[in-house]
Amino acid sequence: MIVCSCNVLTKTRVIAAAESLSRRDPARAVTPGRILKELGVKAQCAICFSLIRTMVAEAGVQVTCPEPLASEAQDDEAQDDEAQDDEAQDDEAAAAE
Ligand code: FES
Repeated sequence: MIVCSCNVLTKTRVIAAAESLSRRDPARAVTPGRILKELGVKAQCAICFSLIRTMVAEAGVQVTCPEPLASEAQDDEAQDDEAQDDEAQDDEAAAAE
């Protein structure tokens, strides 16, 4: 399966590179950028980064990234919206009393 179409990287190569990085320096974050560098290529569009993070994490290699994954960011937004709705209901209840 091709994971990164810009550099024609397969899932097998990406996972192997991530495992190699993790073994060599377990205290350092395994990021998509480091994985691509390990494979001797550069990120071009970076669309594959989210998929690489997910696949590498599923393979059991710990991945950390400075920015939240899209799904987590959407969850945070949903929680913020719920909190604002609760505050608005509290304000309406206080005004009615
Ligand atoms: S798909 Fe990986 S850099 Fe574009």
